[in-house]
Amino acid sequence: MSHTPFPPRTERAVQGRAPLRELTDELGVLYGGDWNPEQWEPSVWREDVRLMREAGVNLVTVGVFSWARYEPEPGARDFAWMDEVLDLLHEHGIAADLATPVASPPPWLGVEHPDTLPVDADGVRLVPGSRNQFSPSSATYRAHALAITRDLAARYARHPAVRLWHVGNEYGQIDFGDEAAHAFRGWLRERYGTVDALNEAWGTAFWSQRYRTFDDVLPPRRMPYLVNPTQSLDFRRFTSDQLLACYREQHAAIRAAGATQPVTTNFMGFFPHVDSWSWADDVDVVADDQYPDQADPRSPADAALVQDLMRGLGGGAPWLLLEQAVGATSWREHNLPKSPERMRLDSLQAVARGADGICFFQWRASTAGAERFHSAMLPHAGPDTAVHRGVRRLGQDLAKLRPVTGTRVPARTALLFDWESWWAAEEPGRITERLRTLDQVRAFYRPLWDRGIVVDVVRPGAPLDGYDLVVVPQTYLLDDDAAKSLRAAVEGGAGVVVGPMTGVADRNAHVLPGRFPVPVTDLLGASGEEWVALPDGGVEVVGTQPWAPALAGRAEVHAELLRADDDTDVLLRFAEGHLAGEPAVTRRRTGPRGGTWYVGAVLDEGLLGAVLDDAIVRAGVGPAVPGAVPAVHPGSHVFAVTEADGATGVEAVRRGDAVFLLNRSGEHRDVVVPGRWTDLLTGADVVDVVPLPVHDVAVLIPVDPTMTNSPDEPRNW
Ligand code: GAL
Repeated sequence: MSHTPFPPRTERAVQGRAPLRELTDELGVLYGGDWNPEQWEPSVWREDVRLMREAGVNLVTVGVFSWARYEPEPGARDFAWMDEVLDLLHEHGIAADLATPVASPPPWLGVEHPDTLPVDADGVRLVPGSRNQFSPSSATYRAHALAITRDLAARYARHPAVRLWHVGNEYGQIDFGDEAAHAFRGWLRERYGTVDALNEAWGTAFWSQRYRTFDDVLPPRRMPYLVNPTQSLDFRRFTSDQLLACYREQHAAIRAAGATQPVTTNFMGFFPHVDSWSWADDVDVVADDQYPDQADPRSPADAALVQDLMRGLGGGAPWLLLEQAVGATSWREHNLPKSPERMRLDSLQAVARGADGICFFQWRASTAGAERFHSAMLPHAGPDTAVHRGVRRLGQDLAKLRPVTGTRVPARTALLFDWESWWAAEEPGRITERLRTLDQVRAFYRPLWDRGIVVDVVRPGAPLDGYDLVVVPQTYLLDDDAAKSLRAAVEGGAGVVVGPMTGVADRNAHVLPGRFPVPVTDLLGASGEEWVALPDGGVEVVGTQPWAPALAGRAEVHAELLRADDDTDVLLRFAEGHLAGEPAVTRRRTGPRGGTWYVGAVLDEGLLGAVLDDAIVRAGVGPAVPGAVPAVHPGSHVFAVTEADGATGVEAVRRGDAVFLLNRSGEHRDVVVPGRWTDLLTGADVVDVVPLPVHDVAVLIPVDPTMTNSPDEPRNW
C-alpha cells in the first residue's frame, strides 16, 4: 500500500482564534490527567468519575494506549467500551481529550508485519512487548494507524464529550531500517534535487565518500568510525519530518471525519529527536509533558525554561501541560518523591508561564505493567492519602484561576534556541564533547530566572521587535536571517549577548571560513580564531579595569581565542593557561543603551551572572514584577528571586493582569507589592505587602487595574 510521505499541512479547524478559548471559557483552567479505563472494570470507572468530580477534574485524556483493545484481531473493531467511557464522562461534565491510539500497536501487527517494527542503528529489529514499536517510515504501520484513526474519528467526531484530540503519544521513534533508508533517499532527492548537490552539501570529497546516485545512500547506521556530520544531521531532520508526516496524516484523518475540536500531540520540551519549531504550526494548541527531576535543585529554573519555550512554540498563546508526575516517576534510576507542596508550586508555575491546562500522568495508579510504581492522582492507597489531598487542593486552586485563562505572559527578553543548531553542534568529531548546547542554554537562562526576568524562547531568524535584551547561547548554526534579525535588534537599541561556539557553521554544518562568529563579528566588535578545550578544573578568569577588577572566577570546558576591536571593551580576561591575558568576554557599546556582549568561554555561574547583569542594566530590562522582591544590587534594575546570593527565593511572573508569586525559598517571605490587590487563591485583600508562607503561592490581581492585557495584546507591561 502506498502513501504520500509528506501530506500537505492541514488547515486548522479553529483558524484565526484562540483554539482553547471555547473550552476554557466554559471550564476555566483545564485540570486532569491520562485515564486508562481499559485497565479496570466498569464499576471502577464509575468510582473514578465520581472522584474526579470531587477533585475538580474537568479534562481527561483517554485511549492513548487502547489500540489492542479496539482492534483485538486484525480488522476487528471494539468501540463499545469507549462509547460507555465517553458517555460516562459526558454525563459527569468531564471533557475528553481523545487520543488516536497509534503510539503502541497491538503485538499482532509486529508479528504479522515485521516491517512495521523499527530497526536500530546496529540493525537490531525491536520487538513488541513494550510500546512505541513502530517505524514512522513503515507504509504498513501507517496504513493500519490511519485505518484505526479514521474509524475512531468517524465514530467520535461529534461526541459531545470529545473536546480535544491527542494524536499518538510523544512522537520520537527512530528507524534505521530499509524502508527508512528508502524514504530518506526520497527526502534527500526533494531537498537537494541532484546527487551532485547532495555531495556538495555533505562534503563527500572528504574520506572518499562521494555518492554516484541517491540509491547508494544509507541512514547513518553503525559504521567503522566517525559518521559524516551532515549525513547525520540530515537524518535527524528527516526523522523529525517523517514523524511529522505521521502526525499530519492523523490530523488530516480526524478533520476528514468532520471533527472540529482542536487537535494536538504532546511534545517533550527539549526532546532531541523532534524539531518542535517545525511542528508548531501543525498543532492547534501546543501541549507538553514535563518531568523535572526532584533530585536537581535547579529543576524549577529548567522547568521555567521549557515553559517559556512552549509559549514560544505557540507564538505566545496559552498552552497545555498535558503530563507531569504528581509524585515520583518510575523511569529514572532513582526517583525522588515530589511533595504535594512542590507539585502545587510546579503546577501554578506552569499556569503563571502561560498554561491554560494542568494535567498529569495518570489519574489512577496502574497495578500491573511497567509503570506500576509511577505516582498517580489516585494512588494505590486510595483517596485518603496526602497525594490525593494535594490533588484536590490543586483542583480548588485552579478553579479560582479562570480569570487568567486566555491571557499572555509579557517578556522583554528573548533567548534564541534552535534544534538544528543543537544537532549540528553535537555531531561527533568536535573539540570537546563536554560542551553541550542544552547545558549552555540552561546556563544562560538560569541567571535570568534568578533575577526574575521572564524570557521568551525564540527561533533564530524570527523578528526580535519589542525585545530589549536578546540572549544567544551556543547557536552553532547562525544563518543570515538570524544575523539580520540580531542586527535589527541592535540597531533598535537592544542588548545582545552571544555565547561561545556561536555562528560556527552553515546549514550544511560546514565550518564558515573566517574569524568567528562569522555572520556577526562586526556587530560584536570582537572575533575569534581558535576554539580551545580547557584542562580539567578550568582556568581562572578575572575582571578588568574599570569594569569589575575585583571579580574573579573560572572558565571550564571550552574557551576561545578572541580579539577585541579598538572601540570594544574587554570585561573579563583569562588569567592563566594557554589563553592567559586574552579577552574572555567583550562588550561593544552601540548607543546610549543596549550593546553587544561576546562571551568567549563557558563561565561559572557567578561570572556569567555578572556579565548578564551588565547587559540587563544597559538594556534596561527588569524583573517581571519590579518591587515585588528586594533588589540584591541596589540601584540597578537587577532583582533576584532565588536563594542564590542571599536573594529571596520567590519566583515572580506576570500573566495578563495577574502577578504570580511562588515561594520556593523554604521559608516564610513577606513580599513587597506596591498597590492594592486581591489574591485570587485566598480572596484576601492585599495592600503593599503579601505574606507568603513557606511553599505557598499568591496570585494577585490589581483591585483597580490601570493596565489591561487582552489576549490579543502580547506585550504591554
Ligand atoms: C510519558 C508518557 C506516559 C507515561 C509517563 C510516565 O513519557 O507519555 O505515557 O509513560 O511518561 O512518566
